[in-house]
Formats: sequence, C-alpha cells, structure tokens
Amino acid sequence: MTKIFCDIADLTLIKKFNKKKIVEGFTTNPSLIAKTGAKDYKNYCKKILKFTKKPVSFEVFADTPNVMNTQGEKISKWGKNVYVKVPVVNSQGVFMGNVIKHLNLSNIKLNITAVYTTKQVSKILSKINKKTKVIISIFAGRMADAGKDPIPVFKDAIKMTKNHKNVQILWASTREPYNYIQAKQLKCSIITVPPAIIDKIEKFGKSFDSLTKDTVLNFLKDSKKSKFKI
Ligand code: E4P
Repeated sequence: MTKIFCDIADLTLIKKFNKKKIVEGFTTNPSLIAKTGAKDYKNYCKKILKFTKKPVSFEVFADTPNVMNTQGEKISKWGKNVYVKVPVVNSQGVFMGNVIKHLNLSNIKLNITAVYTTKQVSKILSKINKKTKVIISIFAGRMADAGKDPIPVFKDAIKMTKNHKNVQILWASTREPYNYIQAKQLKCSIITVPPAIIDKIEKFGKSFDSLTKDTVLNFLKDSKKSKFKI
C-alpha cells in the first residue's frame, strides 16, 4: 500500500488536510515554509505540530555538515512524529554522508531529500543502520521536468532497499494525479502530494463516457461564452 502524504506548509491547509483519512503524513521544505511568509522557522514548525500528530518532515537548511548536524538534532526534539529532512548533498554537490551517518546513529528519523540517482541511494544505504527509520525522497517531477524518466530510478531504489525494513522510498515532486497510480504500481511506500492534487485523487473513477461528455460540454460552454461565430 502506498501512503499519501501532503506536501505543504500552509497552516490552514495542514489543519484541513490533517482531517482527511487519505492523508497519512506531511512533508515540508524550506521553500514551502518561506512561501507562507513565516519569519521564525522554529516557531512556524511548532505551530504545524500543534495541528497534526501524523509524521511531518522538517528540513535542515544549513550548508555545512556541522551546522546540519546541530540543526538536525534540534529539529528532532520538536516532536515524536518529526522526521529530519537532510539533503543528500549540500549546495556544492558534496555528499552529506557523515551527517546522515551521525543523525541515523543518534536514532533520529530521517528523510533524505533531493535524491535523483541510484548511486545516491546506494551511498545513503552505506551510511545507515537497519533499525532507525529513513525515508528516501526521489524527486520524480523535477526529473521529468528535465526530460528524464524517473521510473527506472524508483525500480532500482526499491530493489536495493528490499532488505532494509527501516527504509521507505517516497515519490516526491508530484506533478499530476496519475503519479499516485505510478507510485502504487512501483510499490513506493509513500507519495507526497500537493493539496490540489489530493483533491483530484479523491475524485478518481470517472468513466471515459462521462469524461468525453464533460470535455465536449466545456468546449461548448467556452465557445458560447465567447459568442464565437463562423
Ligand atoms: C518533497 O518532500 C518535496 O518537498 C517536494 O515533493 C518537492 O516538490 P517540487 O518539485 O514540486 O518542489
């Protein structure tokens, strides 16, 4: 079963989506939190935690291993349901293996983010134990945006983590509702989905007949609205 997480930082939406049974957790990132206008990262994350007991990922935003370790240790203490999100590399492209190793050894639940390659997955696996929970977030949508097929990366990653019961492969960077079907076919443990796409997933199931009628009806409405004539 592929769990659906909601990829969002907006407090009102978190409150709303937390009530949905279909939503089993949340992921945030510094960009999503910045978009809310939040000025105090820690306070804002703590507000999020008041709205949900489901798993939530909060990302470190340091660029050096030492500061990442300190931020990760602090973030992990904000709540039992917190996963510390650590980018697989820093902004210079340097693998953050020692941070992953240190936080994992300290029993901190991790979400390793911005993962794009099988090689990165294998490097992550070489740094973690087989006990503490680790999510590996593979950025499907951004790969597809760059003209690359994300499916082979997921297939490899899922094969490689078969014997790691503590590791969950997460489909990140979701672009369309059908990505949920793809994530399920691949047997991803989790897919993280923006709110508007969750709304569409909840409405899955329309028949081809009604889709074709709706499509034609909309074309008709728009042409009438614009008073088109030939
Ligand atoms: C995952 O945890 C990320 O926050 C997210 O999926 C990134 O998605 P984007 O590529 O739409 O920014």
